[in-house]
Amino acid sequence: MESLKSKINLERLPKHVAIIMDGNGRWAKKHGKPRVFGHRNGVKSVREVTECAAELGIDYLTLYAFSTENWSRPQKEVEALMLLLVQTLHNEISTLNKNNIKLQAIGDLEKLPGKTRKALLSGIELTKDNTRMTLVLALNYSAKWEILEATKKVAENVKNGSLGLEDINEDVFSNALSTKNIPDPELLIRTSGETRLSNFLLWQLAYAEFYFTAEFWPDFKKESFYQAILDYQNRERRFGKTSEQLVT
Ligand code: IPE
Ligand code: IPE
Ligand code: MG
Repeated sequence: MESLKSKINLERLPKHVAIIMDGNGRWAKKHGKPRVFGHRNGVKSVREVTECAAELGIDYLTLYAFSTENWSRPQKEVEALMLLLVQTLHNEISTLNKNNIKLQAIGDLEKLPGKTRKALLSGIELTKDNTRMTLVLALNYSAKWEILEATKKVAENVKNGSLGLEDINEDVFSNALSTKNIPDPELLIRTSGETRLSNFLLWQLAYAEFYFTAEFWPDFKKESFYQAILDYQNRERRFGKTSEQLVT
């Protein structure tokens, strides 16, 4: 493991990594267990990857934990997930503080069950002064919802005269999103072999590098994370230019 880590160029780390943590259910099925067993084991990967990212020196780690579409799952699974969130938040806040990691959340938090919301807001409050890394949880998150909310905010400012129509630009719009003040992710990871975005960070991922792995989330540990970073570092990010332009 050390050898993989040693290949990483610490000068060229992505500042922000976003992860679609997928495959808990299939992982559980593979082990002949109920889906919630997969979610519980997924928490272990969250812990390990969070520590690993902070140790490397990554500034922001965003984890897709619950999508707006996930409310359509069986009620028992939704309840188990919300409970697991509360338990995890309670258990992990002291570790986040020990590791100097700040917690933030994006998504429609108002619609979360009271206990989950409370645990989340208290975690955010208790870690707000930490400076080493920011862990962003996407909860009841939908990128289309976020874009619509931002559009309403911007439109409201135009309507009340505080913003001119011609002044709407990428910065104005970015600042109206829930990821305001967070740089766009340079790297998106999705586990479990699925290769879709599932309504995640549509605006923010416009120029991200995508990394897909067949591993189920509960199997995704430090070594898998190093592998993803190394893969990212071997890519040429051209932003529309030619390869030759980049070396000069
Ligand atoms: C990801 O694993 C966790 C959440 C979406 C909450 P899944 O629960 O989607 O696992 P699969 O995709 O069914 O295997
Ligand atoms: C995306 O995973 C959402 C999260 C990881 C929280 P899903 O498993 O819900 O996505 P789909 O249904 O395969 O698109
Ligand atoms: Mg899934």
